[in-house]
Amino acid sequence: MGLGMMDATDRAATLDQGLDQTFRDRFAADVVAGLSARPKYLLSKYFYDDRGSQLFQQIMGMEDYYLTDCEFEILERHGLALLDLIVQDNHPFDLVELGAGDGLKTKVLLGQFLGQGADFCYAPIDISAEAMAGLVADVAVQFPALAIAPLVDDYFHGLHRLQEQTERRRVVLFLGSSVGNFTNDEAIAFLRHLGENLNPGDLLMIGFDLMKDPKRILRAYDDPEGITREFNLNLLDRINRELGGDFDRDRFLHTPTYDPMTGETKSYLVSTQDQVVHLAMLDQSFRFDAWEAIDMEISKKYSLREIDGIADRAGFVPVKSFLDERRWFVDAVWMR
Ligand code: AVI
Repeated sequence: MGLGMMDATDRAATLDQGLDQTFRDRFAADVVAGLSARPKYLLSKYFYDDRGSQLFQQIMGMEDYYLTDCEFEILERHGLALLDLIVQDNHPFDLVELGAGDGLKTKVLLGQFLGQGADFCYAPIDISAEAMAGLVADVAVQFPALAIAPLVDDYFHGLHRLQEQTERRRVVLFLGSSVGNFTNDEAIAFLRHLGENLNPGDLLMIGFDLMKDPKRILRAYDDPEGITREFNLNLLDRINRELGGDFDRDRFLHTPTYDPMTGETKSYLVSTQDQVVHLAMLDQSFRFDAWEAIDMEISKKYSLREIDGIADRAGFVPVKSFLDERRWFVDAVWMR
């Protein structure tokens, strides 16, 4: 039966399978490229399957992971000042959030904005269907009057949504220091691309974790409960589940580092022995030497000066910086 002969439900199911297939193909190609490289790497954007997203919610609830509390404080204190920057003559606007997760922090803003009678549509984008379903359900109960246009995709592809023509001002939220999961060059390329999809006058509010006591930073990525370790190992489990891998998670050590010269926190999984890992669905094998590392994630920490330089190189103009009281974190508002 051709696509044209299907009813709407069949067509939606086929489309879903097609999307799943594309996701899986991209995932498989990236895993093979990373495990074939020297040094080996895996892309941290693949941490966020449903299990990984749940683990990340747990990380955000940990006391050691100070980033969440800092940003909560900023949004609670300065949400209305942000609204003042956004609203021009009561024109409606779109609030697009890249990597919305469970939207816990953003709900602070939504409540404040709705309380002021702001006319806007919330457009969260997230790779996890489960996290998005939770967010949509939550928001429907908490803010029944809110207009919402959710999208399940990674935010690289979600940027396409911004290409739609609109007269409305767009305000993009990129919170949580997610930008820190890019190298500086990658961040600038990504933000330039984001800017190309915005109109002059549109705003970006972007969170950056600031440099601070190295021990404080390292603790956020090496919690005694082992949740961050689990978060990293889950990517090996995901490869086992989705690509038929035979990774033995007990043969890898979670090893975070922080370099105060560059502000780079990096997480590695270190192979404790010579071993070969086979991915049955791709019929490919990868050899690990004892103590060879897989580069799993960068979580960059910034100086305020460096952040202004990034805005400039990415083609944005800094408008305002909102900091928490300890000056550990900043939400910077930039204009396109
Ligand atoms: C999403 N991102 C900003 C987190 C971070 O801090 O780099 C992901 C994370 N990795 C380990 N803990 C949290």
